[in-house]
Amino acid sequence: QRPAILIARAVFPEVVERLREHFEVETTPPGVVWSPVELIERLQGKDGVLTTGSEYIDAALLAACPRLKIVANLAVGHNNFDLDAMTAAGVQATNAPDVLTETTADFGFALLMATARRITESEHFLRAGQWKQWSLDLFAGADIHGTTLGILGMGRIGQAIARRGAHGFGMRVVYHNRSRLDTGKEAACGASYVSREDLFSQADHVVLVLPYTPAAHHTVGAAELALMKPTATLVNIARGGIVDENALVAALREKRIAAAGLDVFEGEPQVNPALLTVPNVVLTPHIASATLPTRMAMAMLAADNLIAYLTTGQAKTPLNRVAPR
Ligand code: GLV
Ligand code: GLV
Repeated sequence: QRPAILIARAVFPEVVERLREHFEVETTPPGVVWSPVELIERLQGKDGVLTTGSEYIDAALLAACPRLKIVANLAVGHNNFDLDAMTAAGVQATNAPDVLTETTADFGFALLMATARRITESEHFLRAGQWKQWSLDLFAGADIHGTTLGILGMGRIGQAIARRGAHGFGMRVVYHNRSRLDTGKEAACGASYVSREDLFSQADHVVLVLPYTPAAHHTVGAAELALMKPTATLVNIARGGIVDENALVAALREKRIAAAGLDVFEGEPQVNPALLTVPNVVLTPHIASATLPTRMAMAMLAADNLIAYLTTGQAKTPLNRVAPR
């Protein structure tokens, strides 16, 4: 009998086809989001599931789904997984790294530029018919070229953003990370290591690309914002919970920093209403990896993890090592 899997959020037809070559596949219709209870119901009798980063996989779910052997996340971040519980239960966890790195770095740069150069704010002004005359300081923003870029979290995406800044825009790039890169990698992406404090105080533009862990919760709050220059911008393409949104709103309102660009939100898809009232913030709906080729590659990698693990016992991009259930 072929293994049975659930695709927990609608994916491209090509991905469903690939999975049907190996498995009995239950799909989820477009627009449908399962509640935790519905997800457990759908997972009865399933050997594997393709998740999207919004389905929470914890000890209670694993206990209620005794046949489940693998959860393949269609995302590089995996803060929706309780990895210890998955390992303890013998459930393989996989994510979708690498295939999204350059696309996500492009977006990080796009959001940085939109934020520093006030692109969305000025477009709203134009669309609202408010453009009556030219003036010297109309939507005057901050330069990007030749300034200092600070990157917090220096994984693959952080390094790809650093390369863009150093080699494309002549920026001085500083970074902070739990572990320092080796000198070869630092040279390749043109970045130098600084303390956390120096990163916030020296950077003209701060980009957050660190994984969300309990230790990273609100790691950018009032104290960090107070270190930043009043002309600086803050861009978050990591996870919403990393930034204390209320402290950020206060800093933006009082112009203690110039602007922020946010692709991720603590309660997404709900957005803190205070953020919607601040003009100097660019808001996008968690789309940093959203190009069709990259989303296809991420979905295919998640599918390939399911196929590889359930047919050979060896996942392509495993997050844990398990003694199979
Ligand atoms: C998106 O946020 C991802 O983690 O891939
Ligand atoms: C994190 O895994 C990254 O790719 O930056």
